[in-house]
Amino acid sequence: MTVHLAICTKTRCHSPHVITLDQITHRYPNGMQALSDISLTVKSHETLVLIGGSGCGKSTLLKMVNGLIRPTRGQILWDDVPLDRDHLIPLRRRIGYVIQQVGLFPHLTVAENIGLVARFAQWSRAQIDARVETLLELVGLDPRLQRDKYPHQLSGGEAQRIGIARALLFDPMVLLMDEPFGAFDPVLRTQLQHEFLSLEFSLKKTIVLVTHDIQEAFLLGDRIAFMDRGRLLQVGTAEELKSCPANDAVSAFVGGIP
Ligand SMILES: Nc1ncnc2c1ncn2[C@@H]1O[C@H](COP(=O)(O)OP(=O)(O)OP(=O)(O)O)[C@@H](O)[C@H]1O
Ligand SMILES: [Mg+2]
Repeated sequence: MTVHLAICTKTRCHSPHVITLDQITHRYPNGMQALSDISLTVKSHETLVLIGGSGCGKSTLLKMVNGLIRPTRGQILWDDVPLDRDHLIPLRRRIGYVIQQVGLFPHLTVAENIGLVARFAQWSRAQIDARVETLLELVGLDPRLQRDKYPHQLSGGEAQRIGIARALLFDPMVLLMDEPFGAFDPVLRTQLQHEFLSLEFSLKKTIVLVTHDIQEAFLLGDRIAFMDRGRLLQVGTAEELKSCPANDAVSAFVGGIP
Protein backbone atom coordinates (compact mmCIF):
# COMPACT_ATOMS: atom_id res chain seq x y z
CA MET A 1 0.00 0.00 0.00
CA THR A 2 0.96 3.64 -0.39
CA VAL A 3 0.88 6.76 1.76
CA HIS A 4 -0.13 9.98 0.03
CA LEU A 5 0.45 13.21 1.91
CA ALA A 6 -1.32 15.86 -0.12
CA ILE A 7 0.01 19.33 0.57
CA CYS A 8 -1.55 22.64 -0.28
CA THR A 9 -2.50 25.92 1.39
CA LYS A 10 -5.24 28.36 0.62
CA THR A 11 -2.57 30.78 -0.60
CA ARG A 12 -0.42 28.39 -2.65
CA CYS A 13 -2.88 25.98 -4.16
CA HIS A 14 -1.46 26.04 -7.68
CA SER A 15 -1.24 22.27 -7.85
CA PRO A 16 -1.75 19.44 -5.43
CA HIS A 17 1.54 18.55 -3.75
CA VAL A 18 1.70 14.95 -2.76
CA ILE A 19 4.16 13.16 -0.51
CA THR A 20 3.96 9.44 -0.89
CA LEU A 21 5.31 7.04 1.71
CA ASP A 22 5.40 3.74 -0.03
CA GLN A 23 5.54 0.58 2.14
CA ILE A 24 7.64 2.19 4.84
CA THR A 25 9.50 -0.05 7.25
CA HIS A 26 12.15 1.20 9.66
CA ARG A 27 14.68 -0.68 11.73
CA TYR A 28 17.03 1.35 13.97
CA PRO A 29 20.73 0.38 13.91
CA ASN A 30 20.33 -1.46 17.25
CA GLY A 31 17.85 -3.82 15.58
CA MET A 32 14.67 -2.21 16.95
CA GLN A 33 11.97 -2.45 14.27
CA ALA A 34 10.02 0.78 14.83
CA LEU A 35 7.78 0.75 11.74
CA SER A 36 6.41 -2.16 9.73
CA ASP A 37 4.86 -1.60 6.31
CA ILE A 38 2.98 1.56 7.30
CA SER A 39 0.29 2.73 4.89
CA LEU A 40 -1.74 5.89 5.19
CA THR A 41 -3.22 8.75 3.19
CA VAL A 42 -3.25 12.34 4.43
CA LYS A 43 -5.51 14.58 2.40
CA SER A 44 -4.89 18.20 1.55
CA HIS A 45 -6.02 20.53 4.38
CA GLU A 46 -7.01 17.77 6.72
CA THR A 47 -5.70 17.24 10.24
CA LEU A 48 -4.61 13.66 10.56
CA VAL A 49 -3.91 12.49 14.09
CA LEU A 50 -1.44 9.68 14.78
CA ILE A 51 -2.37 7.91 17.98
CA GLY A 52 -1.05 4.88 19.80
CA GLY A 53 0.75 3.78 22.95
CA SER A 54 4.22 4.90 23.96
CA GLY A 55 6.92 3.46 21.72
CA CYS A 56 4.56 2.43 18.90
CA GLY A 57 6.51 4.50 16.34
CA LYS A 58 4.60 7.80 16.10
CA SER A 59 7.64 10.11 16.40
CA THR A 60 9.65 7.87 14.08
CA LEU A 61 6.92 8.16 11.46
CA LEU A 62 6.71 11.93 11.83
CA LYS A 63 10.50 12.31 11.49
CA MET A 64 10.35 10.18 8.38
CA VAL A 65 7.75 12.45 6.79
CA ASN A 66 10.19 15.34 7.44
CA GLY A 67 13.15 13.43 6.01
CA LEU A 68 14.98 13.37 9.37
CA ILE A 69 15.06 9.57 9.28
CA ARG A 70 15.37 7.55 6.12
CA PRO A 71 13.33 4.37 5.91
CA THR A 72 15.06 1.02 5.93
CA ARG A 73 12.61 -0.17 3.33
CA GLY A 74 10.05 1.60 1.17
CA GLN A 75 10.38 5.08 -0.23
CA ILE A 76 9.13 8.61 0.27
CA LEU A 77 8.13 10.63 -2.78
CA TRP A 78 7.36 14.33 -3.16
CA ASP A 79 5.07 14.90 -6.12
CA ASP A 80 6.07 11.45 -7.33
CA VAL A 81 9.78 12.33 -7.10
CA PRO A 82 11.71 10.17 -4.62
CA LEU A 83 12.88 12.22 -1.64
CA ASP A 84 16.67 12.38 -1.63
CA ARG A 85 19.24 14.65 -0.01
CA ASP A 86 18.85 17.29 -2.74
CA HIS A 87 15.19 17.76 -1.86
CA LEU A 88 15.54 17.88 1.90
CA ILE A 89 16.34 21.56 2.48
CA PRO A 90 13.59 22.95 0.21
CA LEU A 91 11.20 20.34 1.61
CA ARG A 92 11.87 21.34 5.22
CA ARG A 93 11.01 24.94 4.40
CA ARG A 94 7.58 23.70 3.33
CA ILE A 95 7.06 21.75 6.54
CA GLY A 96 6.74 23.22 10.03
CA TYR A 97 7.79 20.91 12.83
CA VAL A 98 6.63 21.22 16.44
CA ILE A 99 8.86 18.78 18.29
CA GLN A 100 7.98 16.75 21.37
CA GLN A 101 8.91 18.87 24.47
CA VAL A 102 8.98 22.19 22.51
CA GLY A 103 12.81 22.37 22.32
CA LEU A 104 13.44 26.13 22.53
CA PHE A 105 17.11 27.16 22.73
CA PRO A 106 17.57 28.40 26.32
CA HIS A 107 20.23 31.01 25.48
CA LEU A 108 18.14 32.68 22.75
CA THR A 109 15.26 35.09 23.27
CA VAL A 110 11.75 34.31 22.09
CA ALA A 111 12.27 36.44 18.97
CA GLU A 112 15.62 34.78 18.24
CA ASN A 113 14.14 31.31 18.72
CA ILE A 114 11.31 32.03 16.29
CA GLY A 115 13.44 33.80 13.67
CA LEU A 116 16.63 31.75 13.87
CA VAL A 117 16.23 29.81 10.65
CA ALA A 118 15.22 32.95 8.72
CA ARG A 119 18.70 34.33 9.48
CA PHE A 120 20.22 31.32 7.76
CA ALA A 121 17.85 32.00 4.84
CA GLN A 122 19.35 35.53 4.53
CA TRP A 123 16.23 37.42 5.60
CA SER A 124 16.91 41.02 6.65
CA ARG A 125 16.60 42.05 10.29
CA ALA A 126 13.47 44.07 9.46
CA GLN A 127 11.83 41.13 7.69
CA ILE A 128 12.55 38.83 10.63
CA ASP A 129 11.25 41.37 13.18
CA ALA A 130 8.03 41.83 11.24
CA ARG A 131 7.49 38.09 10.82
CA VAL A 132 8.15 37.40 14.51
CA GLU A 133 5.62 40.06 15.48
CA THR A 134 2.99 38.61 13.15
CA LEU A 135 3.56 35.07 14.44
CA LEU A 136 3.45 36.06 18.12
CA GLU A 137 0.12 37.80 17.53
CA LEU A 138 -1.13 34.78 15.60
CA VAL A 139 -0.52 32.46 18.55
CA GLY A 140 -2.13 34.89 20.97
CA LEU A 141 0.95 36.46 22.60
CA ASP A 142 1.75 40.18 22.93
CA PRO A 143 5.01 40.76 21.01
CA ARG A 144 5.96 43.74 23.21
CA LEU A 145 5.77 41.59 26.36
CA GLN A 146 7.18 38.33 25.01
CA ARG A 147 9.73 38.89 22.27
CA ASP A 148 12.74 39.66 24.49
CA LYS A 149 12.10 37.01 27.13
CA TYR A 150 14.24 33.91 27.49
CA PRO A 151 12.58 30.48 27.60
CA HIS A 152 13.02 30.14 31.40
CA GLN A 153 10.88 33.29 31.77
CA LEU A 154 7.91 31.69 29.97
CA SER A 155 5.05 29.60 31.27
CA GLY A 156 4.69 26.13 29.75
CA GLY A 157 1.72 27.24 27.66
CA GLU A 158 3.57 30.31 26.37
CA ALA A 159 6.58 28.18 25.43
CA GLN A 160 4.30 25.79 23.58
CA ARG A 161 2.73 28.66 21.61
CA ILE A 162 6.22 29.86 20.70
CA GLY A 163 7.08 26.38 19.47
CA ILE A 164 4.05 26.61 17.18
CA ALA A 165 4.98 30.16 16.05
CA ARG A 166 8.49 28.94 15.20
CA ALA A 167 7.06 26.09 13.12
CA LEU A 168 4.99 28.62 11.12
CA LEU A 169 8.00 30.84 10.26
CA PHE A 170 8.07 30.05 6.53
CA ASP A 171 4.29 29.71 6.23
CA PRO A 172 4.67 25.98 5.64
CA MET A 173 2.17 23.93 3.70
CA VAL A 174 2.36 21.08 6.17
CA LEU A 175 2.57 21.23 9.94
CA LEU A 176 3.94 18.23 11.82
CA MET A 177 3.18 18.35 15.54
CA ASP A 178 4.59 15.79 17.96
CA GLU A 179 2.46 15.75 21.14
CA PRO A 180 2.13 19.55 21.15
CA PHE A 181 -0.09 19.59 24.24
CA GLY A 182 1.23 16.48 25.96
CA ALA A 183 2.97 18.12 28.91
CA PHE A 184 0.12 20.23 30.27
CA ASP A 185 -2.50 19.96 32.96
CA PRO A 186 -6.05 19.29 31.75
CA VAL A 187 -7.20 22.94 32.01
CA LEU A 188 -4.33 24.41 29.99
CA ARG A 189 -4.46 21.48 27.61
CA THR A 190 -8.13 22.13 26.85
CA GLN A 191 -7.42 25.85 26.37
CA LEU A 192 -4.52 25.15 23.98
CA GLN A 193 -6.56 22.57 22.07
CA HIS A 194 -9.33 25.08 21.46
CA GLU A 195 -6.85 27.80 20.47
CA PHE A 196 -5.34 25.29 18.08
CA LEU A 197 -8.75 24.57 16.57
CA SER A 198 -9.29 28.23 15.68
CA LEU A 199 -5.71 28.50 14.35
CA GLU A 200 -6.28 25.37 12.30
CA PHE A 201 -9.46 26.88 10.89
CA SER A 202 -7.80 30.19 9.94
CA LEU A 203 -4.55 28.75 8.52
CA LYS A 204 -5.99 25.81 6.56
CA LYS A 205 -2.78 23.77 6.70
CA THR A 206 -2.33 20.09 6.18
CA ILE A 207 -1.50 18.87 9.67
CA VAL A 208 -0.17 15.62 11.07
CA LEU A 209 -0.45 15.66 14.86
CA VAL A 210 0.74 13.00 17.30
CA THR A 211 -1.03 12.32 20.57
CA HIS A 212 -1.63 9.59 23.17
CA ASP A 213 -5.00 11.05 24.04
CA ILE A 214 -8.05 9.71 22.20
CA GLN A 215 -10.23 12.64 23.28
CA GLU A 216 -7.68 15.06 21.82
CA ALA A 217 -7.59 12.94 18.66
CA PHE A 218 -11.37 13.09 18.30
CA LEU A 219 -11.46 16.82 19.02
CA LEU A 220 -8.66 17.88 16.64
CA GLY A 221 -8.49 15.22 13.94
CA ASP A 222 -10.45 14.99 10.72
CA ARG A 223 -9.18 11.43 10.63
CA ILE A 224 -7.26 9.31 13.08
CA ALA A 225 -4.49 6.83 12.28
CA PHE A 226 -4.25 4.23 15.01
CA MET A 227 -0.80 2.65 15.51
CA ASP A 228 0.30 -0.30 17.58
CA ARG A 229 3.88 -1.64 17.88
CA GLY A 230 5.05 -0.20 14.59
CA ARG A 231 1.98 -1.15 12.63
CA LEU A 232 -0.93 0.90 11.40
CA LEU A 233 -4.09 -0.81 12.59
CA GLN A 234 -6.76 1.53 11.23
CA VAL A 235 -7.29 4.94 9.67
CA GLY A 236 -10.66 6.65 9.73
CA THR A 237 -12.89 9.33 11.16
CA ALA A 238 -13.87 9.24 14.80
CA GLU A 239 -17.25 7.83 13.76
CA GLU A 240 -15.63 5.07 11.72
CA LEU A 241 -13.28 4.07 14.53
CA LYS A 242 -16.12 4.04 17.04
CA SER A 243 -18.68 2.25 14.90
CA CYS A 244 -16.32 -0.18 13.20
CA PRO A 245 -13.06 -0.69 15.14
CA ALA A 246 -10.59 -2.87 13.23
CA ASN A 247 -9.80 -5.03 16.26
CA ASP A 248 -9.92 -5.26 20.05
CA ALA A 249 -6.96 -2.89 20.51
CA VAL A 250 -8.75 -0.07 18.67
CA SER A 251 -11.99 -0.94 20.38
CA ALA A 252 -10.35 -0.71 23.82
CA PHE A 253 -8.83 2.70 22.97
CA VAL A 254 -11.99 4.29 21.60
CA GLY A 255 -14.41 2.54 23.94
CA GLY A 256 -16.22 4.82 26.35
CA ILE A 257 -15.64 8.01 24.32
CA PRO A 258 -19.03 9.55 23.58
N1 LIG B 1 17.43 6.34 17.81
C1 LIG B 1 16.84 5.20 18.18
N2 LIG B 1 17.55 4.04 18.26
C2 LIG B 1 16.96 2.89 18.61
N3 LIG B 1 15.65 2.76 18.91
C3 LIG B 1 14.91 3.87 18.86
C4 LIG B 1 15.45 5.15 18.50
N4 LIG B 1 14.45 6.05 18.54
C5 LIG B 1 13.34 5.39 18.90
N5 LIG B 1 13.62 4.08 19.10
C6 LIG B 1 12.68 3.03 19.48
O1 LIG B 1 11.72 2.91 18.44
C7 LIG B 1 10.43 2.69 18.98
C8 LIG B 1 9.49 3.79 18.48
O2 LIG B 1 9.94 5.02 19.04
P1 LIG B 1 9.12 6.37 18.81
O3 LIG B 1 9.90 7.47 19.44
O4 LIG B 1 8.79 6.48 17.39
O5 LIG B 1 7.79 6.05 19.64
P2 LIG B 1 6.55 6.98 19.99
O6 LIG B 1 5.32 6.27 19.50
O7 LIG B 1 6.79 8.35 19.50
O8 LIG B 1 6.57 6.96 21.58
P3 LIG B 1 6.14 8.09 22.64
O9 LIG B 1 4.64 8.13 22.59
O10 LIG B 1 6.66 7.57 23.95
O11 LIG B 1 6.78 9.39 22.23
C9 LIG B 1 10.60 2.67 20.49
O12 LIG B 1 10.69 1.34 20.91
C10 LIG B 1 11.91 3.39 20.73
O13 LIG B 1 12.57 2.92 21.88
MG1 LIG C 1 7.09 10.19 20.45
